[in-house]
This record gives sequence, C-alpha cells and structure tokens, in this order.
Amino acid sequence: MAVNGAKNAALKAMAAAVLFDGPVELQNSPNTDDIITMAEILKRLGANVERHDHRLEIDASMIKSTDMNLELSQSMRASIVLTGPLLSRFGEVSFPAPGGCVIGARPIDLFLEGYKKMGANVVLENNIYRITASRSLNNTDILFNKVSVGGTETLMMAAVLGKGKTTLKNCALEPEIGNVARWLNACGANIKGIDTLTLEIEGTGGKLLSSRNEPFVTIPDRVEAGSFLILGALCADDLSITNCRPEHLESTIGLLRESGVSIEVLTAGKEKSPSIIRVRNNEPGIPFKSFNLRTHEYPGFPTDLQAQLAVFLTQAEHESVILETIFEGRFKYVEDLVKMGANITVMNPHEILIKGPTPLSQLPDDEELRAHDIRAGFAIVEAALVGRGKFTVNSIHLIDRGYEKLEERLRAIGADIKRV
Ligand code: EPZ
Repeated sequence: MAVNGAKNAALKAMAAAVLFDGPVELQNSPNTDDIITMAEILKRLGANVERHDHRLEIDASMIKSTDMNLELSQSMRASIVLTGPLLSRFGEVSFPAPGGCVIGARPIDLFLEGYKKMGANVVLENNIYRITASRSLNNTDILFNKVSVGGTETLMMAAVLGKGKTTLKNCALEPEIGNVARWLNACGANIKGIDTLTLEIEGTGGKLLSSRNEPFVTIPDRVEAGSFLILGALCADDLSITNCRPEHLESTIGLLRESGVSIEVLTAGKEKSPSIIRVRNNEPGIPFKSFNLRTHEYPGFPTDLQAQLAVFLTQAEHESVILETIFEGRFKYVEDLVKMGANITVMNPHEILIKGPTPLSQLPDDEELRAHDIRAGFAIVEAALVGRGKFTVNSIHLIDRGYEKLEERLRAIGADIKRV
C-alpha cells in the first residue's frame, strides 16, 4: 500500500504560495477534497491553480483580493493558515470566524493574539474578522501558551516578508511544519530553529520569495501511513506500507509492537528516500495486549490516529484507557463501535475505557454506521473491515477530505468494499 503526500503539509504549502513572486510547483500533493477546497479559496482570491494528478502549479503573484470566501473558508479550518501569508504580503486580510467543528471547539485566540503582538489591528464585525497592519509585522517575541500546529505555521508565514526579527516560542514540532519551512528557506525566506521549539524569522523586508525552480516536495502522510499500519495489524496477513517515513511514526510503531504486532522497518528513511513498513499478523486468533494511551503533540502519539487505535484496542485483551489531550469531543465514533458490540465507556469528554477483546458484528435492520470526521471515518471503515458481516458507512465525504480514493486502494489490498 503506497502512502500519499501529507495533506496537512500540502495545504500549508498551498497557502505559502501567496508569499511568492511567481508560480510554484507542489509535488506529491494528494488529491483529497481539502486540497481542492484550498485550491478553490486561492482561485477566488485571484490565483491560478492547476492540478496535474499529484502535482500542483500555483501562481498567486496576481492576487488582488484579501477577502477570503466565506462559505469555503468556514468549511475547512485549515483555511485560517492562509491569513498569515495574506497579511504578510498585503498588510490586510478578512476572513470569517470559524464555525463549530466536528472535533470540538477550535478557538483562534492564538492567531489573533499573535497578530496583535506583531502590531496588527483586529476587528470583528458581522462575524468577519478584519486584520490590518499599518506597519510591517515583525520585531516581536511571541510565546504560545498552548502548542498549536496551525498557530505555529500561520505566524511563521506572517513574519516571512516583514522587516526585522520575529521569535516564536513553544512552537509545534509536527514534521509538516519543517517540510514547509525548509522549502520557504530554499526560496529566500530566513527561518531559523526549524524542528525546534523556538523559531526565529528574519523578514525579507518586503521582498517576495522566488521559487528558483525549487518545487515543494510533500513528505509522506504519517497519519495515512499510521492508519494503514493499524488496519494491517488488525487484519492483514502481511502488508507492506511503502513510501512512508517510519521515523515520523515512532510512537505508533512502539505501541503496536508492545501489543504483540510484528512490525519490520525495511530501510532507514531520509526526506527523499522513503521507507517500507511491513506488518504481519504472526499469530492469528491470539488477542493483542492492551495498553493505555495518551494523545500528545508530536513526537507523542497523534490525536489523528486516536480513533483508529481505539478500534485496534477493541481486539486487545483486558482494559485500555485512551486519554485525548488535544481535542474535546473526539469520541463521537464510540457510539458506532458500541452498536457493533465493542465494550467502550466514555468516562468524560477526554477519556474512554475499552474492554476487550469483543467481536464487532453487523447491525440489525440495515442500520448504518457514520463517518464523524476524517480520521474517525477511517476508523469506522477499519472496524467494518474487522467486523463480521456487512456494513454501510454514511457521510463518507468526510473521509474524502483526507484520504484519496480510500475504497479503491483498500480493494487493491484485498478488502471487500465499494462506494455506493
Ligand atoms: C492540525 O490542526 C491538523 N490540521 C489536525 O488534523 C490535527 O488534529 C491537529 O493539528 C493536531 O495535531 C491541519 O494541519 C490542517 P492545533 P490545528 O492548532 O492546527 C487549540 C486532520 O484530520 N487551539 O495544533 O487546527 C485547539 O483547540 C486534522 O487531518 C487553541 O486553543 O490544530 C487544540 O485543542 C484534524 N487556540 C490545540 O490547540 C488556537 O488559537 C491544538 O490545535 C488554536 C488552537
């Protein structure tokens, strides 16, 4: 099973295209619906975006508008990352207040506080934020009081074209951030401290970045790789996950190995030479060992694999506790698993208790299962593949936001699944 490029890196590189004086090329970009939405938002601002399979060409140099489309921006939280490059280049941006989200409240205080510290003026009127900066946004120190992936990326990009130095402290360390930052540096930005907790951005003083024939090469999607790995641990005799970066999945590989899953990493990966993870079910019929799990910012166990691992733990013996520390309300999938026969108790909005192993069985009267968000959607498909009988999963448009042609790719490795 070949892993696609990381949507959460490609989306940010697309936003970064606004910082450039001409066209940029993104390679290994997945064809997921979120990428299509970001392309549409950029087009409405006046950019030219062309897609050729897994390659994107974006020319945002002719953008004139800084008003982000209301419906499109509200439909995807990641759109807020675009506010950083727009503000850096034009000194203004307006965007809608983000709506409620299926994975709980997702405030934007870190972005707004950051912009204010950088010298911008923030006004909220009729549910639209208007941010203006009368002077160049730089020369400030910002300490994030909470680790935020989007906050780190957005404020980093907001500082790229300014004058003077911005220091960001307590930054997120997710590999997608370094992937984008290294590319920006190769194209004229000056970002120091990549992959550390402190980023120092020396502004270019208004000079736009230039692609210098340096394409953005999207790193393999660690969440997609982890999803396939967990699925393989549950129900594959022998599955090789190719084009991935095992070093980005250390916490997941470690937990699965502890639980008794046989995992082999076949080559050591570098950015341009991805590796293979081989997962085998050595002792079919023997339940896995349970473990407790706490989601954490990278390099801890990712919240984006929490639901997939919960399904795995329904097949482990004894009790496991999952503590979700990043988002509240990321357990909506539990009711579907319980309907299938899982023994899971929601202790509080951050904690569940799983007792296993329990078979997962077909629902009566053709009752349907539901994809609650991108990752929980994968988890429900995973549960249906592990379960006995036939299942229908609805709301799969949410899965399409993050996994390209999931059913086709699963069919290719032997799953009995079709889109209806
Ligand atoms: C990114 O979301 C990912 N999305 C998410 O993946 C991922 O779950 C999340 O990081 C955590 O790893 C993209 O990259 C597009 P955060 P992001 O800001 O950046 C709180 C998927 O399925 N917070 O790191 O939005 C926030 O509520 C998606 O691919 C504030 O309090 O996440 C959360 O509790 C889902 N104020 C915590 O920080 C703010 O201003 C971490 O969120 C911003 C965030």
